[in-house]
Amino acid sequence: MKIGTIDIEQPIVLAPMEDVTDPSFRRLCKRFGADVVYTEFVSSEGLVRGAAKSMRKIKVFDDERPVAIQIFGNQTEAMVEAALIAEAANPDFIDINYGCPAKQVAGRGAGSGLLCTPNLMEDITAAVVKAVKLPVTAKTRIGWDDKSISILDTVKRLENCGIQALTIHGRTRAQMFKGVANWEWIARAKEIASIPIIGNGDIWNATDVPKRFIETGVDGVMVGRGAIGNPFIFREAKYLMQTGEALPPPTHREKIDVAMTHLKMSIEWKGEKYGVLEMRRHYSSYLKGLPNVSKVREFVVRENDWRLIIERLNEFADECDKHWTDGTFDQFAETLNDHSKKWQPDYAAY
Ligand SMILES: Cc1cc2nc3c(=O)[nH]c(=O)nc-3n(C[C@H](O)[C@H](O)[C@H](O)COP(=O)(O)O)c2cc1C
Repeated sequence: MKIGTIDIEQPIVLAPMEDVTDPSFRRLCKRFGADVVYTEFVSSEGLVRGAAKSMRKIKVFDDERPVAIQIFGNQTEAMVEAALIAEAANPDFIDINYGCPAKQVAGRGAGSGLLCTPNLMEDITAAVVKAVKLPVTAKTRIGWDDKSISILDTVKRLENCGIQALTIHGRTRAQMFKGVANWEWIARAKEIASIPIIGNGDIWNATDVPKRFIETGVDGVMVGRGAIGNPFIFREAKYLMQTGEALPPPTHREKIDVAMTHLKMSIEWKGEKYGVLEMRRHYSSYLKGLPNVSKVREFVVRENDWRLIIERLNEFADECDKHWTDGTFDQFAETLNDHSKKWQPDYAAY
């Protein structure tokens, strides 16, 4: 798949996720083999105002490249200005969000709201492509609702504006995150597209990745919720695609170690208070299925002192070791690597 000078065969991509894909998580996923990563979406208006929160979100690091900055908004001028500000932060490309279903965004005509005003979507895209030197891509959904599946039209409109790749989440806006992603529409979009198509939606396990590449012919596969608390999915999917064999799943030690590394990286990025707070959304996936997890989970999502969290997690790893050696671990194995329980976003925040 080519986007500008980026040229990666069948990339496995980390999805943009608000309050999840900050630099700490992006870099962690990169270490586990994510080929391309995205910032969470950033408000064009926030960037134009120079809001500290927005400006912080566009900071990217060399060890996470290739990385895209994703922007959203519904005003052409502000989107152009925001794209120029994002470009100055030196990402590898700029992505435009035409998929966010949240009321505060879509309801105001931005994100997936632009599926209802396709001419404006074209204006914004063409203007942004023209204004920046970096490649521009977009991410969208298959349509507003099941009576208005517009993805084939969207592909043509956006590629005519000069975008270099399109990510398609196989749901409508009306579905939000419910139901299942429709990869048949993604495959049909791929058939008619002359730009690379990245397919997205419900990649929960490593085996879903080659399956989607083969079934749909997409150029890239993007993983969102399936990577939360499970950056291992990139390593597993890569290995599976390269060798045709499944890697053994991460051990309880590795899961707990990576959760601790993630916590430390989160604190490095956000400072102690927010680093600890924002890690709370990740623990239950890291610890899912481990023996007698409820007490430790309760502790780590309430505790404010990161040192005590690390201490408790270390103790928990030792407790798990005991289960491992006395043979009682197997009774937990059924749920251990099942990430299919859908992780629902907090709509208030998103
Ligand atoms: C918590 C959360 C935050 C998200 N934030 C964004 C975002 O900032 N930009 C975006 O394009 N999509 C966002 N999404 C959508 C994901 O990128 C992805 O399209 C969606 O989760 C479907 O993929 P999945 O089934 O692999 O999770 C978000 C999803 C979640 C769960």
